[in-house]
Amino acid sequence: MPLDDLLRDVKTLAIVCNQWGDTGKGKFVDYFSEWADIIARGTGGANAGHTISIGGKQYIFHLVPSGIIYDGQGKTNIIGRGVAFDPLIMKHELEVLDSNSMSYENLMISMNARLVLPHHLVLDRLLNSADGQTRIGTTGKGIGPLYEDRVGRRGLTVNDMLNKDIFRRKLEKNLEHNMVLLSSRDPEKVKEVLQHKDLGEGMFYHPKKLLNIDAIVEMYSQYGRFFGTMIADTEQFLIGELGIKNVLLEGAQGFLLSIDEEGQPYNTSSDCSIDGLKKGTGVPHDAKVEVLGLAKFYMTRVGEGPFPTEFGGKKSEEWCRPRKGEDKRRQERELYAKASVNSEDEFEKGIAVRMLGDEYGATTGRARRTGWLDLPLLRRAVITNGRNVVLTKVDVLNDCDTVKICVAYEYRGMDYVLGNELLSSGSIITHAQLRSEVLDNCRPMYKEFPGWKSDISGIRKYEDIPQNLRSIIDYIERSAGVNVAIVSVGPDREQTIVR
Ligand code: IMP
Repeated sequence: MPLDDLLRDVKTLAIVCNQWGDTGKGKFVDYFSEWADIIARGTGGANAGHTISIGGKQYIFHLVPSGIIYDGQGKTNIIGRGVAFDPLIMKHELEVLDSNSMSYENLMISMNARLVLPHHLVLDRLLNSADGQTRIGTTGKGIGPLYEDRVGRRGLTVNDMLNKDIFRRKLEKNLEHNMVLLSSRDPEKVKEVLQHKDLGEGMFYHPKKLLNIDAIVEMYSQYGRFFGTMIADTEQFLIGELGIKNVLLEGAQGFLLSIDEEGQPYNTSSDCSIDGLKKGTGVPHDAKVEVLGLAKFYMTRVGEGPFPTEFGGKKSEEWCRPRKGEDKRRQERELYAKASVNSEDEFEKGIAVRMLGDEYGATTGRARRTGWLDLPLLRRAVITNGRNVVLTKVDVLNDCDTVKICVAYEYRGMDYVLGNELLSSGSIITHAQLRSEVLDNCRPMYKEFPGWKSDISGIRKYEDIPQNLRSIIDYIERSAGVNVAIVSVGPDREQTIVR
């Protein structure tokens, strides 16, 4: 179907992810940016990493909306109120745009966006990141501590950077709480983290007090001046444009990482669903929004947490755990040059999929764990995100002799009370619950399909998709109750089949 038909009567379109992130939102935000007049982000922060490939050149952004490359065409990009705004990282990204002679004159930053402060990054890195105290494997961008401050009612917003005295007062109040946590850490470690480039290489360090409040106040007030006229009431602006201009809402992370799902502690701290995105951009509840939920044709997860269909299970989880100074991409190319998607060894199959799909984190460079598509998880996600699905990276499995899809789980754990149900060994689960106690004890039940064994990356029409692949897509639609609206067969915008 031509794109025009898909977008007929649509004025606001949202792109969200139905898995654990990294499903290709960047490509699709770029794809629909041509149609859009306004592109708005509403959740997450620099923990996101969006790779956009245009004419063979790759762009990675963490904070600026992926639509920024269309700024020069007069399109407005918005950082919404729900975003964790790190002024230092943002400033670096704008410098990259400057050095590529790319415009950002229409960029708007919500005055209500949450402000990332130095102690957020320090606490995140010391406590939760890949080499932190607990092994959640966060990206270390301060996301958890920032949202903790928010629900603890001591957070600061972008607008506070514009009012120096108020900023200082709020920061001092905030630190009454956070210095207790920070002072309980090894001061040498705090000093070390504060030398990181994301923290201005030591500019916020104080030898006696750990944090140099004066330096923070001074620097943030400089940031306030730097971002100056970009800071605005973006919600008011957006509400005025809804229904008139074409608006694209850009999701971040993925539904399965949402704070509102029971995946704790292995989730992020924002609501990554369409609800969180609407709230984070300020789109009112009664606005008509068309939602496209992305699902990769296989699954990946970066960081810790249960992953029932992981190729090679625990061995893969352990292998993908990052170690200081290593380069997994290079290491795997050297050690597993012969790994194949048809390998008997599941662990090697996982490495082959990772190499073919280039599944290495855009934000942290970590190897993403890989596994088969999981319908119990997809069924859960689409209850919230809606039934319109975009299947991405389908071409990565071109060479598979057999494609497996997880259709349900068999629970194999101890008796477990789940609401008004009792799960006992042998119970069948068709709609996943994101609790590790359950997911860690689930054995996937697979349906096997013959592969299509041909290169589909050049296909542009749905009718030209090999029959074997079409049968799998039909099955996914029936079994998960979804409508596959788009099939993506490569990273470039042309490699997109609109059904
Ligand atoms: P945080 O968002 O940095 O707190 O990390 C919490 C968890 O979410 C970790 O497992 C991260 O690896 C994961 N995560 C955060 N952002 C992304 C993303 O954009 N893609 C995939 N995983 C993410």
